[in-house]
Amino acid sequence: MSDGRSLKGLVLSGGQGTRLRPFTYCHAKQLLPVANRPVLFYALEQLAEAGIREVGIVVGHTAPEIRQAVGDGSAFGLSVTYLHQEAPLGLAHAVQSARPFLGEDPFVVFLGDNLVGTSIRPHVEAFLRRRPACQLLLREVADPRSFGVAVVDGRRVVQVMEKPAVPPSDLAIVGVYMFDVPVWRALDGLRPSARGEYELTDAVQRLIDMGYLVEHCRLESPWVDVGSLESILEANRVALERLSGRIEGALDAACEVEGPVVVEAGARIERSRLTGPLIIGSGALVRDCELGPYVAIGRDCRLESVRLRDSVVMEGAVLERIVWPLEGCLIGQQAAISGPFTDGGRFSLALADHSRIRSLDGGP
Ligand code: G1P
Repeated sequence: MSDGRSLKGLVLSGGQGTRLRPFTYCHAKQLLPVANRPVLFYALEQLAEAGIREVGIVVGHTAPEIRQAVGDGSAFGLSVTYLHQEAPLGLAHAVQSARPFLGEDPFVVFLGDNLVGTSIRPHVEAFLRRRPACQLLLREVADPRSFGVAVVDGRRVVQVMEKPAVPPSDLAIVGVYMFDVPVWRALDGLRPSARGEYELTDAVQRLIDMGYLVEHCRLESPWVDVGSLESILEANRVALERLSGRIEGALDAACEVEGPVVVEAGARIERSRLTGPLIIGSGALVRDCELGPYVAIGRDCRLESVRLRDSVVMEGAVLERIVWPLEGCLIGQQAAISGPFTDGGRFSLALADHSRIRSLDGGP
């Protein structure tokens, strides 16, 4: 930057993830896998791709797991500093706790549970060129009531509201915000909202009220706020759509492959039909299955005689001899569903780590 400051990244990766239970009993929500990689990794990659090098990650009670997954950030081409948020008191509070790290530098806040289906680089470039006090990323959504909502006039944002019962527009606030130093004035003296949290949306409204320039860019690509079980499947679909096919594992001659399919090295597939978008992680064994579209199978899973679509199966899980077609399933690490199950019909499952479903027919 011409004034000697550098643009930093701030990834918010705390929070309880209560709506993602049971999975968040075992894991940080930001580490739930979509297309076999933690949601958080996509945010880190996108910050790196936008030219940012120094990133702070605000962590809460899941700090050890996040540290272990991300390390020093060098795998992403980043230098990562971990910042502790004392208590989960909201996004604005999380940003406040990063103040010593950010100093006087402008910064991009990326919510670690948001998956944005495209590069953020053009938005970062617009921010650096135009230098507003804040730049929001907005996306039209069918029902904005569960998001921050913005009212705009041309490029300018004139009003923002957090989760309004009667939304004043259909423009939701995406979890990628850009701020310059005036934000510290807006954050000082912020009061908690009705839900008891310090809202970043309220800080943005304070910037507007103080007369600072708040602008926006429009996001046209898919965007998922991974806040519910259904949204993990949606994020998985979005991430899978971006993969191109790559077969590095071993497929026998009786396999059929259609569409973009990734089979990682060390996976073994026998007598199965694979329909992309689909990814199968290393060390997985798949036998007599019909998989896809929109399926992610983690590493070291074992699947036998299963039909599965639109699902996430986390590493080490076992699914075997299930006659019913499965769809919309989330299967946690090391969970096992062992048939034979022989009835007809359809069903969907959400099973966290170490869950078990076992048929008592057909022997031990
Ligand atoms: C938060 C923000 C909201 C924003 C959303 C994007 O909501 O408060 O303004 O639209 O992230 O994901 P939360 O998901 O924490 O309820």
